[in-house]
Amino acid sequence: MENTRLPRIIQTESEQPTSRLANTRLPERSAMPTTSTRLPQGNGNQPVTLDDVLKQVKDLPALPHVILKVVKMAAQPEVSAREIGQVIAQDPSFSVRLLKLANSSFYGLPQAVSTITDAVAMLGHQSVRNMALAAATQDVLSGSISGYDLEAGDLWRHSLACAYAAEMLAVHSGYPESEEAFVAGLLHDVGKVVIGMYVEGAVSRIQHHMTKHSCTFIEAERSVLGFDHAEVGGRIASHWNLPSNLVQAISWHHQPVRNGKLCPLAGITHIANGLCLIAGIGLGTDGLCFNIDPTAYVACNLDNTTIDAMIARLVETITEQQPFFASKKAA
Ligand SMILES: [Fe+2]
Repeated sequence: MENTRLPRIIQTESEQPTSRLANTRLPERSAMPTTSTRLPQGNGNQPVTLDDVLKQVKDLPALPHVILKVVKMAAQPEVSAREIGQVIAQDPSFSVRLLKLANSSFYGLPQAVSTITDAVAMLGHQSVRNMALAAATQDVLSGSISGYDLEAGDLWRHSLACAYAAEMLAVHSGYPESEEAFVAGLLHDVGKVVIGMYVEGAVSRIQHHMTKHSCTFIEAERSVLGFDHAEVGGRIASHWNLPSNLVQAISWHHQPVRNGKLCPLAGITHIANGLCLIAGIGLGTDGLCFNIDPTAYVACNLDNTTIDAMIARLVETITEQQPFFASKKAA
């Protein structure tokens, strides 16, 4: 395929990861744009600013109240399965999907689970919390985004895989808030949903810029549009009132080192994104031009064996969750 590269490691003189991924160079990085930067040409012929794009953010649906309540309760071990089940029961669609998952062949239970409380008890608090969050964002992330060459469902699969990868990396690297890492992974590319149409209008110029300057997609995105999907994603996270460290992780998931300092959550999200791209989950236009930051890589304490094991577990986890996400329409 023309103009594409596999994910790669950025090397610096002081940090030389020994991974199989380490074989490339340090790219030049353009300065972050200001919000007043003008877009040369948007979807039509009118110049568009980042502020214009952000007006669309307010049209995104709010996260469902019941689901948010479940997420909060499931994060507290002292809250019983029965209490969580009572809240879940207020959302019939989520209830049906959870029961389908609990009764799927993956779990191979000797007898059917018939109540939400039993399903919560069997799946566990953390699983239920992750599925509640994923259920709340599935619709927003499921559409096709032609500007990024993402078919319907591609971004969703990539986001979900990235969420599980981020959670694994958090546990592996000793980051204390693995739940937070799951959310960061899930939402890292949500900005693509909003600026997809602008990217589509400018995609040929972005690709030309990538070829001419041998840079990543996000660098070209920033140069041509004047802003990028990570920045817009951070604004969406703010709109949803997510905590500031999540806003930061989403905003910085392509450049987790700022002012010489690694933002740990952004670093985990960045590496999780890289693992999904290596595994071939949700490759779009930008996924083929992605640089893995060595500082984040080192912080995640990875080696080839660990990467292989994580990718295998990732594929297994996605397969395991299939009945839950595939059954939404039927629910
Ligand atoms: Fe991204």
